Amino acid sequence: KPHRVGLSPNTSSCHKSFAKPGFQVYCCPPKPESEEPVIDFEFPDPSVPLRIRKRVHLRDSDYIAKYTRALKIMKSLPYDDPRSFGRQADMHCIYCTGAYNQKYTNDILSIHRSWLFFPWHRMLIYFHERILASLIEDDTFSLSFWNWDAPEGMVTPDMYFKEPFIDTERSETHVRRPKVADINYNFVESNLKPEEQISKNLAFMYHQMVSGAKKVELFMGCTYKPGTNNSCDGPGTVELAPHNALHSWVGKESNRYLENMGVFYAAARDPIFYAHHSNIDRLWGVWKELRNNEPEIVDPDWLESYFYFHNEKSQLVRIKIRDVLNITKLGYDYEKIDHPWLNARP
Ligand code: C2O
Repeated sequence: KPHRVGLSPNTSSCHKSFAKPGFQVYCCPPKPESEEPVIDFEFPDPSVPLRIRKRVHLRDSDYIAKYTRALKIMKSLPYDDPRSFGRQADMHCIYCTGAYNQKYTNDILSIHRSWLFFPWHRMLIYFHERILASLIEDDTFSLSFWNWDAPEGMVTPDMYFKEPFIDTERSETHVRRPKVADINYNFVESNLKPEEQISKNLAFMYHQMVSGAKKVELFMGCTYKPGTNNSCDGPGTVELAPHNALHSWVGKESNRYLENMGVFYAAARDPIFYAHHSNIDRLWGVWKELRNNEPEIVDPDWLESYFYFHNEKSQLVRIKIRDVLNITKLGYDYEKIDHPWLNARP
């Protein structure tokens, strides 16, 4: 029996999937990806200056104007176009609900609650950013991050109250200023005063990033390998919360499944998803830096796992986890800021 390394999707297997037990969805591409030519990922030209992702709440009006233009174009593309906003959102739906089977078995492939979480989402927003940049022909365009781990960032950023960043499917009680987010929200209102919520959030961040994340697996998530007996269900600290918690906090309570942000099949329909995930992506780097940038995982089953995404030229690209472990090679970086939670040891 050949040794099969890493997880990857069988792109001819896209099928209806379960967003929640008993709730079926269909988010497959109009034309199967298996019928398209595939190219292997190549790093962007290293002579192009790094795109710096910054805090969204401090972005200026020039930046917002650019992003507005790019997102409007992306939203106006037809669903047939893999660069369209609808298709981007459905990529998340496909991989989060298990619409693809694994390459060598009929087990479904899912990218949450395991060590696939960080790298897969890095890929998704990487291509999303490249597509936005190309739609406005501006190589310097970068996404921004929702800095919910710092006091000034713990409210919904202003930009998301204006078109085209508005999403009507958001919580009416949480997503309003100056409501401070409960980054460990668990469907119960904390009812804390703003200052109390802020210090609780900071102490929580310290736990999720430092004291509760000392072992690699605790932060990165469980070891998910190909084959029927190798599935796992063990999200990393930050994946569970603030990641999942803020998804639920933003989603609209009166929707059955807390659409959009509160349920994964619909989450990426909300533009705030990309700022949320930029912060998640940044925190992966911060955690790694706190460990002196030691490689987090060297298991080939992780490094060789690969997925498919469309790039800004609508080409289908095969990209491995090993390709996304160094963000400067990917042509971007995050602005360097302090981590207020580092001093918030409870
Ligand atoms: Cu795939 Cu924030 O979720």
